[in-house]
Order: sequence, then structure tokens, then C-alpha cells
Amino acid sequence: VSPRKSRPTAVSIEQALAASRAEVHRLRTELRETRDLLIQLGKMNELGRMTASLIHEINQPLAGIKSFAQMVRRKMTESDSQLAKIVAIEEQTSHIESLIDRLRRFSRQERLVRDPIDVHGPLESALTLLEHRIRKKGITVDLALAANLPSVAASSNHLQQVFVNLLVNACDALDNALEKRIVIASSQPEKERVEVIVGDSGHGVSPENRAKIFEYFFTTKPEDRGTGIGLAICREILHGYGGSVELLPDSTALSNGLPPMRTLFAVRIPVWHPAGAPAPVRMS
Ligand SMILES: Nc1ncnc2c1ncn2[C@@H]1O[C@H](COP(=O)(O)OP(=O)(O)OP(=O)(O)O)[C@@H](O)[C@H]1O
Ligand SMILES: [Mg+2]
Repeated sequence: VSPRKSRPTAVSIEQALAASRAEVHRLRTELRETRDLLIQLGKMNELGRMTASLIHEINQPLAGIKSFAQMVRRKMTESDSQLAKIVAIEEQTSHIESLIDRLRRFSRQERLVRDPIDVHGPLESALTLLEHRIRKKGITVDLALAANLPSVAASSNHLQQVFVNLLVNACDALDNALEKRIVIASSQPEKERVEVIVGDSGHGVSPENRAKIFEYFFTTKPEDRGTGIGLAICREILHGYGGSVELLPDSTALSNGLPPMRTLFAVRIPVWHPAGAPAPVRMS
């Protein structure tokens, strides 16, 4: 015996309509937000291109300043009272040059190519790029870097991008913190993996957001401060190399005598093997 179908009543039709309307409204909002994000991404893309040409523009006068300073220095004697100032000009221009060089390399598009990399290289480059921001905010950086780590299989440029993203997030999280501290520790917890921990004493990640932070476009920052792609990109890059990035549980204690931190991210990268290394995976 087949059950008799009840005919839709006016009330149930009304309810279904209301639900559809709500769904359309939700999709419209989502679409509007996605469009705004696309516009913002387009702007950032443009900004990247502007930076590239700015780097080019800055290089010319900088080279000029440096060579004039060198010319003046060559005419000076060791006892000249102005010598220290000229040496300082040379040193400062060299510093800007190396910053620009790192920026240039950072902005270059990279393929997922595995090279044998000392993980501390890209880490130090990232710290140099953010040196000014860290100093201006009065942040202390504690380093506990392990000696004699094996090389990892990744591209230096990509790892630098991962560390820049994590460190920028740490700096942001420390904005209103009383104690402004970033810790970075490297180790080899297992034979096939090198681990870098980046932690900060900032505001932390709330329990309800812990599962969401690696999603594309998830952000808790104001529109002009965050797009919500930093961590998603970190994860994408590291997965490409067979590595990972993870937010560690709240009360994870650090070894190396480092103080406890509110937020800790663990980056894990496979150790480099010359022969039989798996074929590079291309990012989609
Ligand atoms: N160190 C941290 N401390 C506290 N919250 C963090 C930290 N790192 C990330 N988060 C949280 O995760 C969210 C996502 O981070 P993600 O880097 O992906 O995007 P974003 O920093 O908001 O924007 P973008 O990186 O695109 O500029 C952040 O908005 C923040 O809520
Ligand atoms: Mg970020």
C-alpha cells in the first residue's frame, strides 16, 4: 500500500519560498564578498608589479650614491674626520641594496623545484625583510636554531614566503600585546623531517577559529589589513614539497628553554635526498 502523498499547503509553500529567498540572499552576499576580494587581489597584484618597477627605479640612484661615496672615500686619509660618515653612507646603501635584492627575489614567480636548502637561509632572509617592522614594533625575537641540520628539499624562495607569511601574522598578533615576543626554533624531530616552530606571545587563535585559519579568505583582520590567504598559501606550498604546517595545541611546551607562547605554528619539511627524490609536484 503506497502512502498517500499529502498535498502542499499554502503554509508549506510559503515556508519553502522563504527558505529559497534566504538562500538567494546568502548566495548574493557571498558573491558580493567574493567579488570584493577579487578586486582586492587584483589591486595587490598591481601593487606587486609597481613594487617590481620601483625596485628597478631605486637601484639606479642607489648605485650612484654608493659609487660617489666610494669616490669620496678614496680621496680621504685614514685620519679624516669625515671618514666614518662616508663609511656609514656606504654601509647603509649596501644594506638597502641587499634588502632590495631580497625583495626582488621574493617577488619572482617560482616553480616548485626541489633544491638542497639549508632551512636557516630562507628563515634569515625573511627576518631581514621584516627587520624594520619587528624593530619598529619593539618585538624581541628569540632564536633557538639547531646546528648541523640536514638540507631540506624545497625552493628557498618558497620557504622564504612561508616564513614571511608566518612572521607577518605573528607581528600583527602582537599589536596590542604587553609582552611582544616571537620565538623561532629549528630541530630534526624525526630522521626524514626538519621542523621550524614559529611562535608569538600575541592574542592567540580562538577555539572556534582554530579549524578555519588555513581556509582561503578566512581572516579576522580589518579589510585593509588582511585578505586571508597567507596561511592557505603556506599550506599549499608546503604540501607541494611533501611537508606541512600546523597550528600546535594551546599549551604545547617548547624545548630549548624558550618561554611559553600563545600561538605556535610548526612547519615540517622533508629532508633532501640526492637520489630517488620524488618528482616535483606542480602547484595547480
Ligand atoms: N600568529 C597568529 N596569532 C593569532 N592569530 C593568527 C596568527 N596567524 C594567523 N592567525 C589568524 O588566522 C587568520 C588567517 O591568517 P592568514 O595569514 O591566512 O590571513 P590574514 O593574515 O588574515 O591575511 P593575509 O595573510 O592574506 O594578509 C588571521 O586573520 C588570524 O585570525
Ligand atoms: Mg597573514
